[in-house]
Amino acid sequence: MGSMEDEGEMDQTGEEWTKEAILYVNGVRRVLPDGCAHMTLLEYLRDIGLIGTKLGCGEGGCGACTVMISYYDKRLKKCVHYAVNACLAPLYSVEGMHVITVEGVGNRKHGLHPIQETLARAHGSQCGFCTPGFIMSMYALLRSNQTLPTEEQIEESLAGNLCRCTGYRPIVDAFRVFSKTNDALYTNISSLSLKEGEFVCPSTGKPCSCGQKTASDTETCGESVTCGKSYKPLSYSEIHGSTYTEKELIFPPELLLRKLYPLSLNGFGGLKWYRPLQLQHVLDLKAKYPDAKLLVGNTEVGIEVRLKRMNYQVLISVMHVPELNVLSVTDDGLEIGAAVRLTELLNTLRKVVMERAEHETSSCKAFIEQLKWFAGTQIKNVASVGGNICTASPISDLNPLWMASSAKFRIIDCKGNIRMTPAEEFFLGYRKVDLASDEILLSVFLPWTRPFEYVKEFKQAHRREDDIAIVNAGMRVYLEEKGEEWVVSDASIVYGGVAALSVSARKTKEFIIGKNWSQELLQGALKILQTDIIIKEDAPGGMVEFRKSLTLSFFFKFFLWVSHQMDVKTSIKASVPSSHLSAVQTFHRPSLIGSQDYEIRKHGTSVGSPEVHLSSRLQVTGEAEYADDTPMPLNGLHAALVLSRKPHARILSIDDSGARSSPGFVGVYFSDDVPGDNDIGPVVADEELFASEFVTCVGQVIGVVVADTHENAKLAARKVHVEYEELPAILSIQEAINAKSFHPNTEKCLSKGDVDICFQSGQCDKIIEGEVHVGGQEHFYLEPHSSLIWTMDGGNEVHMISSTQAPQKHQKYVSHVLGLPMSKVVCKTKRIGGGFGGKETRSAFIAAAASVPSYVLNRAVKITLDRDIDMMISGQRHSFLGKYKVGFTNNGKVLALDLEIYNNAGNSLDLSLAVLERAMFHTDNVYEIPNIRIVGRVCFTNFPSHTAFRGFGGPQGMLITENWIQRIAVELGKSPEEIKEINFQGEGSILHYSQQLQHCTLLPLWNELKLSCNFSKARQEADQFNVNNRWKKRGVAMVPTKFGISFTTKFMNQAGALVNVYTDGTVLVTHGGVEMGQGLHTKVAQVAASAFNIPLSSVFISETSTDKVPNSSPTAASASSDMYGAAVLDACEQIKARMEPVASKHNFNSFAELASTCFMHRIDLSAHGFYITPEIGFDWTTGKGNPFRYFTYGGAFAEVEIDTLTGDFHTRTANVILDLGYSLNPAIDVGQIEGAFVQGLGWVALEELKWGDAAHKWVPPGCLYTCGPGSYKIPSLNDVPFKFNVSLLKGHPNVTAIHSSKAVGEPPFFLASSVFFAIKDAIIAARAEVGHNEWFPLDNPATPERIRMACLDEFTAPFASSDYHPKLSV
Ligand SMILES: Cc1cc2nc3c(=O)[nH]c(=O)nc-3n(C[C@H](O)[C@H](O)[C@H](O)COP(=O)(O)OP(=O)(O)OC[C@H]3O[C@@H](n4cnc5c(N)ncnc54)[C@H](O)[C@@H]3O)c2cc1C
Ligand code: FES
Ligand code: FES
Repeated sequence: MGSMEDEGEMDQTGEEWTKEAILYVNGVRRVLPDGCAHMTLLEYLRDIGLIGTKLGCGEGGCGACTVMISYYDKRLKKCVHYAVNACLAPLYSVEGMHVITVEGVGNRKHGLHPIQETLARAHGSQCGFCTPGFIMSMYALLRSNQTLPTEEQIEESLAGNLCRCTGYRPIVDAFRVFSKTNDALYTNISSLSLKEGEFVCPSTGKPCSCGQKTASDTETCGESVTCGKSYKPLSYSEIHGSTYTEKELIFPPELLLRKLYPLSLNGFGGLKWYRPLQLQHVLDLKAKYPDAKLLVGNTEVGIEVRLKRMNYQVLISVMHVPELNVLSVTDDGLEIGAAVRLTELLNTLRKVVMERAEHETSSCKAFIEQLKWFAGTQIKNVASVGGNICTASPISDLNPLWMASSAKFRIIDCKGNIRMTPAEEFFLGYRKVDLASDEILLSVFLPWTRPFEYVKEFKQAHRREDDIAIVNAGMRVYLEEKGEEWVVSDASIVYGGVAALSVSARKTKEFIIGKNWSQELLQGALKILQTDIIIKEDAPGGMVEFRKSLTLSFFFKFFLWVSHQMDVKTSIKASVPSSHLSAVQTFHRPSLIGSQDYEIRKHGTSVGSPEVHLSSRLQVTGEAEYADDTPMPLNGLHAALVLSRKPHARILSIDDSGARSSPGFVGVYFSDDVPGDNDIGPVVADEELFASEFVTCVGQVIGVVVADTHENAKLAARKVHVEYEELPAILSIQEAINAKSFHPNTEKCLSKGDVDICFQSGQCDKIIEGEVHVGGQEHFYLEPHSSLIWTMDGGNEVHMISSTQAPQKHQKYVSHVLGLPMSKVVCKTKRIGGGFGGKETRSAFIAAAASVPSYVLNRAVKITLDRDIDMMISGQRHSFLGKYKVGFTNNGKVLALDLEIYNNAGNSLDLSLAVLERAMFHTDNVYEIPNIRIVGRVCFTNFPSHTAFRGFGGPQGMLITENWIQRIAVELGKSPEEIKEINFQGEGSILHYSQQLQHCTLLPLWNELKLSCNFSKARQEADQFNVNNRWKKRGVAMVPTKFGISFTTKFMNQAGALVNVYTDGTVLVTHGGVEMGQGLHTKVAQVAASAFNIPLSSVFISETSTDKVPNSSPTAASASSDMYGAAVLDACEQIKARMEPVASKHNFNSFAELASTCFMHRIDLSAHGFYITPEIGFDWTTGKGNPFRYFTYGGAFAEVEIDTLTGDFHTRTANVILDLGYSLNPAIDVGQIEGAFVQGLGWVALEELKWGDAAHKWVPPGCLYTCGPGSYKIPSLNDVPFKFNVSLLKGHPNVTAIHSSKAVGEPPFFLASSVFFAIKDAIIAARAEVGHNEWFPLDNPATPERIRMACLDEFTAPFASSDYHPKLSV
């Protein structure tokens, strides 16, 4: 055993401390060196080359870093397996355990694990960056379960994993196969053949060494997926599990026998790490280090250190201390050790509820429900009860419940004295508790409830799953029968999210105690609550009106719930009318079902076939490499950016002395150090690489620091001190309009007919005017920006590997800032972990910044942005403002539209003008408008430059349109669908930019959609539901779309490709497009395979590289398959033409034979292909032309249900139909549609960007508040429509693109607005109940705040007027 550095410490604790730390990773024993206490498990794994585990956020919010941890629990005598987020797990916290990463599950060489196989084959991996995390969550579930999991358990286990590409449906479909009851097919082992007590691991289907006992297979499994005509899900027997089972990693025998020792280790900057194994030693350490942090899950401390830059010197990991891990059931209640993990608590509570009398477990049930919506599985697997309590977060989900359920906390001091304190008295202030520095929390006592004592939990968050609360609550009443009445004998009403700590509504409590449980009590309590819970106007977090009304809504729900409980047991005067029961029904999500309906039109060997993504097998095993996975060359450095902290200021001075003395520092560079030109920009050079004199947004790059490690580079960058003179900043579109702050030369106008004459002519029965505010959106690709740059030949050449949609742009930027010719700069991109437009231009300046030190120092430099920095500096989807004036007839025919639109471009032009232009082209959506005038302007604001994002302005333009269409419907008392139909464009329609519609499939598509969703029946059913339910409302909507395909800038519609045929008959294709998950390489390879009439497996696409195919446009505008497919086809045809003389002379048995014969005949088997999109072009001076080659049409139906009291919503059904001609690969196209729809759903209903502006004064000016998955919520699995049906229109080939196909990437995105308008439809029903039938505006995203505040009722009235409009950063 090693000895402590400080012998005194050893004497004091009296235990044999050691520094010998070991760990097994994927079955390999590893000795952990001392000095790594600051490291996370993720950093360690990636450092030792296990790069399959990804860093997506570093804050436990995305699941990309999921690994499985196993340890032998000596008490339970079995191995325990669970999934954790490696990004938050301190390295030493897994000492003595077995870590399995995706590499340990299976790989391509030795065989894929069934989980990997099924995910790959079910199209569950697009960009692949999230994929290892999903694999590991599923793997841990299977290994930890004693029976095959239910579908519900599978979906629950994936709650902590985000995917931005797939829309989740294929992932769930893939894993659903493991919920099957009959495992014989896959294991080839009948349970009858097992020896007694032998356990079959659900993961491998083999008897397992984990020590688990076999559990009977009695749990029911969910229904199997409903499928479309053409789609067949994988069957269980198709997965080659039986061939895999030999390779499953066992639990290392050494760890079964090994004794744990207390650990004493060190980390960076003098950090001390202890792992005591006895309570006394914890107390001794606490006595010695009163400021020490106790650690269990590190889910709070980890965030404090990483995001809040807290610096702790002593950490004491208490997870193995037995006294802190008690979980004992007593006659009076449950004793819960402070280190008990939330998953353990949940399991125990579930058991208790089954075993004990019903009346005793009201609190337990409330905790179970609350824990259902508490973080993701990985967090619950490690986060502790004590950690949650002692953090004393004002939005803790559990603390209001401990308080409400009269829990008591057992506290011990360093001398061993124990005291009990009621939970209600424990919380003293913001993150302040009643614990002296020599005390720790020992355990929690949760008493059983009595007959007629009821406890209930409440929580409303932005996103139901894995999100922190906006407001939560715990409430309890104890009723006693007194004569005819039921009287409140005791009560507790506690709220979180309304103050700096969880607070008790004391006045309300006092009011209700002693009162009869009746309507009078309810009304009185609601009045008192308004003065009891006060939220200040400038309270951090904002949403004050919403939060206040939630306090009333929750109490009202509680009242109804208790009344209903009493109704069941007794007759009580406060009986609940059946229509009001809707307020108390708890949300239950059925398993996701969906269908995918398409026809397969094969062309040659491969085109038209639903092939799986070519890299999917690499992605599911974690072998697929992304930019940050590239091994660092010898002597390589890490870069971090020096960023502006002010939205608009003059730079007075820069002091970099702090950085220079920072550990590992190598260099710092500012504008004067740029070897070439400091002025950059993708369209006009209106940006600076490094700000020289002024900064114009928070997050603008001022300089770059390089150091030996990523952490050291960031630390040094933070130490660069910049003095500013602050200047006035423009922080919204409205402020820009007021100040006439527009980017130069960006005003655009399109017109048709004469709007003014039409308005004056009296033809319009009605003319309405209004504004539409359209919110922005963060790309949230799972892989943050990353580039590795190195020089060659002493700096004569520069090479880089970048995560970008535009390698050519990286090449150009780097050559420009370094002053090198483009021919000496090469950029390569193998694949990227999602882009969605965010890596089209806004990746280039990051690579260019890192190229400066690389070039100056002649050393390799890697730059990978942390998630918060990435979100803060790289721009988002543009927010828009639309001001409309529309004239129409009484039957709803639109006659004239006068529209002004503005987009919020931020501090540089970037692509904002093109985004505005596309928005202007799409402001007719699919409607015939005889007179139209659209004026567009690009606003200069002091935000980071906003940029391309799937749809590129089109969705914003169409959302403005659908808003006024919906308003016309309300004004005329008709349905929006009716208004849409009578205004539809059709074959031959001339658009407002003079393009004529040809091959328009809008009507057949719409009719098919209407039929498939049975719209009139759906409408009737929703109306009936709304009559029967006062507090839940359903809404339905249908939305059409028409999306123009082509870059609207003509010269960009060109594509190059290089095709090499080798003598073995294999083909290497390189083209200018980037694979970002959309399946571009797969489709293009299919084109080549069909062209040569060879199997797809003979075609390979390795990477995109500027030295193979030059001058490529960014991979964007949905047109890449069209363009690169055509360019590749061109090259293939050239080669085929050269082969033809040889081919026609002989009968070759194979393409290999033909290729090698051609080679012998000295025929060039390599060709460059080229394609330009024909017949396009638009002239802005005349406002006429054909900007688009063709249009992709689509339609969607959605049905939603909202909780009018809280604003919670879910999508019950979505039917989506797209016309994709003859799809090149229908499976990939369905994946694109589902992914785009769910991403669009995020835009319209979930994802809200909050900036420090006039609407959000609690955020520093110009700062992005929502800069991570903790505060910015993209859709999770739980947000996917319950029924999600996708179909492709049949029988309509597209004559204008390759193999009669159509582009798919962007068009379906807007269709998610059907969810938005269904929500609005539901709100209309809610408002009608209180007599509000007038039209009202609703901004996107329709978050719970906007939904709830629009559903006017007695709980919103005290806090907001009927025209109240929640604030939106636009
Ligand atoms: C992605 C994510 C999602 C989350 N979601 C939620 C959510 O939905 N609801 C919610 O309420 N919270 C949520 N949290 C917050 C967090 O998970 C919880 O507070 C968690 O329970 C903390 O437990 P821990 O063991 O990880 O704490 P740690 O980080 O290990 O410790 C936290 C603090 O508690 C102190 N402490 C721990 N044990 C003791 C003890 N015995 N005596 C005295 N002090 C002690 C430590 O000194 C430290 O200051 C989330 C966090 C993350 C990262
Ligand atoms: S990287 Fe760990 S959860 Fe996102
Ligand atoms: S495949 Fe899930 S994030 Fe790309």
